[in-house]
This record gives sequence, structure tokens and C-alpha cells, in this order.
Amino acid sequence: MDFDTALASLFSAEGRRDPYPAYDVLRSHAPVFSALDGRWFVTTHAMTNRLLRDASLRVADAADYDSFWPDWRENRGVASIVLSMLQNNPPDHTRMRRAAAATFTARRVAALRDVITEQTVELIKAMPERADFMSAFAYPLPIGVICALLGVPAADRPWFRQRAADLTVVLEPISTEEEMSRADAAGRELEDYFIGLIAERQRAPQEDLTSALAAEGSGLTGAELLANLVLLLVAGFETTTNLLGTGLTILLEHPEQAARLRADPELAPAFVEEILRYDSPVQLTSRFTSVPIDLGDGGSLPAGASLNMLLGSANRDPARYPDPHRFDPDRPNIQPVSFGGGAHYCLGAPLARLEAQVAFPLLLTMLPRLAVAGVPVLRDRLVLRGYATLPVAAG
Ligand code: HEM
Repeated sequence: MDFDTALASLFSAEGRRDPYPAYDVLRSHAPVFSALDGRWFVTTHAMTNRLLRDASLRVADAADYDSFWPDWRENRGVASIVLSMLQNNPPDHTRMRRAAAATFTARRVAALRDVITEQTVELIKAMPERADFMSAFAYPLPIGVICALLGVPAADRPWFRQRAADLTVVLEPISTEEEMSRADAAGRELEDYFIGLIAERQRAPQEDLTSALAAEGSGLTGAELLANLVLLLVAGFETTTNLLGTGLTILLEHPEQAARLRADPELAPAFVEEILRYDSPVQLTSRFTSVPIDLGDGGSLPAGASLNMLLGSANRDPARYPDPHRFDPDRPNIQPVSFGGGAHYCLGAPLARLEAQVAFPLLLTMLPRLAVAGVPVLRDRLVLRGYATLPVAAG
């Protein structure tokens, strides 16, 4: 495959099905290069890691959106994400992130282990002999867990799941008008829901994240509180769903490895890291340079450059991972860039990891004959990679 074909393939449905051969071509071309109307692409593990941690890089924020889409606030799906920490720069990002990190603590995540185990067992027991793994397991588990964390009653989970699914399209660079209007409706309904929940928790706080974030002194404005609650719901939803669907497929494609994990659940952390590396649920993240950046070896980035960091490519970089296309949970020091890096490093990484570490061993031991039973269908997305449907036989 030549360079132009490789680049074009990332923007075609066919190429996105398996982007890894194209990533190899682009990475061999250069760690960073400019193409397609001056957009820049970052392909290697070292350069991705370095640039994600560069404090002079910015994410597109409300002021940027104002310049290219003055009416963006009217789409409440878009507004909820743009006003959240994900699309803010310092000092606002620092303040919001601090408020969220103070409540979304390691202790709170660790305390969810029993909730995750309980929900996992319940979903496995309810799984029909023939099922779509995505709708029977990979969607309901993350939504159930995040609802438990936020204090959303169990009865409202299916309602939340639909709204969250409609809203995630906002995270993609390309979407249809109909998708954007569904995201707007979902944004409005979620805002109304959270306004009610915040008022309830301010009146009578409980042991949940909404109560903690809505408490006086959190340092968040009302609009920021709302936007970040919506972000927590959607950021942890389809991403974790994709980790579960993709991870199960990888395990079933490597039965000797699955047998090891079934026999020894203590291996789960290493397996989950390698699954994250091997097929990252988030394939791309974007930044802008605010000042010129010297890349060494005579290369540089100009101020105002738009960077697409190809996380999926960085995770298959042979300079960092020998034999990168092999699934090998015994690799030392895996540390994939699947959760990003630097100031915007995924706040929910410990929760996503815990869900997967609990789920995979239980799936393998409770359903020892679980098998793919049909053709899985990938979602045609550039950023969020995962299955739309994954037919399985529970055995
Ligand atoms: C496998 C699952 C997940 C993956 C692969 C993932 C990936 C990511 C990535 C790549 C970013 C950085 C985006 C950027 O650099 O612009 C991010 C940010 C974020 N993630 Fe996750 N995520 C996952 C699960 C979760 C969960 C479960 C939650 C919360 C419940 C969550 C909450 C967040 C938040 C709040 C941010 C924004 C942090 C900031 O801007 O400071 N994520 N995630």
C-alpha cells in the first residue's frame, strides 16, 4: 500500500475496518507529517506520548467553536461536551478537572468492585443461549456501573443508555444532520434529567458522585456541573462498551490465552492492558499547537497546527512493542496510549480497567463454552472503534 492510499483508507469505511496496515505505512513515512489541507498526523508511540504531555498544546474550546460554528450552543449535545473539561484549556480545565478528581477518587472506584461483580454476574445469568453480546452485556454493564456511581436509579438505566448512545456521535469529526439532531435532543433530555437529580441531591445528599460534585464549594458553575455530569456519562459509556466487545473477541480468537486467564484471574490486569493496546477503543485524539514546537532532527510544527494523534498507530509501533501485531499479555510494561496522556488523561481509566478486569474472568469461567456465533459487525467510526453487533453462543 502506498502513502496516499493508506491515508485515504482511514477516511473510508473499508479502510477503517482494519486500519492497522495503513498505520504501518503512515508510521514508516514519518512520526509526524502534514497532509490533507495542512492537517498534521502523529503516528509513533514516542511522539504521541511526548506531544500529549506538551503543556503548550490546546484542545479546541468554546472560543474555537465560536470561530467556525457560531451557533454551536444551540445543539445541546455538542454544548454539553464543549462546556465540559474535555474541551477546556487552563485555567478552566485545571479547575474543573480538580473538582472532578477530588470526588472521582481511587477509593470511590475501588468501592465499586462489588457493584461491578454483582452486575456482571446478573448479566451473565440472564444471557440467552444465543445473544448479541453488545446488547446483552457490553452496553448494559458500563451504563449500569456509571449510573450506580452517579446515583441514577436502576430503573432509569435503559433510558440513559439510549440518550448516551445518541450523544456519543458528538465525539466523531464526521456525522450526519440526523445524528446531530438526535444528539441535540439527547443533550436537552439529559440536561433536564440532571437538573432534577442535582436539585434532589442538594436537598438530600447521598453517597454518590452527583451529591459530591453538586455540594457547595466544588468550584463548578451550574453550567459546568451539568456539562461534566453529561461528559462522565458519555465518556465512559461507548468506550468501555467497546473495550468489552473487542476484548471478548480477542480472547475468543486466542483460546490458549483465554484458558490461562480462566485458570488464573490474577492475570486480568496484564490481559486488559494488552487488549487496550492491541485494539484501542479510542483511535484518535486531536490538539492544536499554540506556539511553534521544535521536534528535533530539523523538524518543527508551526503555531496553530491541527494535530490528529493516531493512538491506534502508536500502540502498534514496533519501536516500542516488538512484534506489535501479536496479542501478547506477557509483554513487560505495556502502557498503551489508549487513555491519552498529559492534562486530559482519561479520568475514568481506573474504572474502565476495573470493569474489564472483573468482567473477562467471570465471562470465561461462568460461560466456559462461550463462542462467536456469526459475523460481528464493526461500527463505522473513525474515533470510537468497536462492534455494533457481536453474535455469541453462550454454550
Ligand atoms: C476503555 C474505556 C475508556 C477509554 C479507552 C477512554 C479513553 C479516553 C481518552 C483517550 C481520553 C482523552 C481524550 C483527549 O486526550 O482529548 C479520555 C478522557 C476522559 N475520560 Fe475516558 N476512556 C474510557 C473510559 C472512561 C470512563 C469509564 C470514564 C468515566 C466514568 C471516563 C471519563 C473521561 C473523562 C471525564 C475524560 C476527560 C478528562 C479531561 O479532559 O481532563 N472515561 N478518555
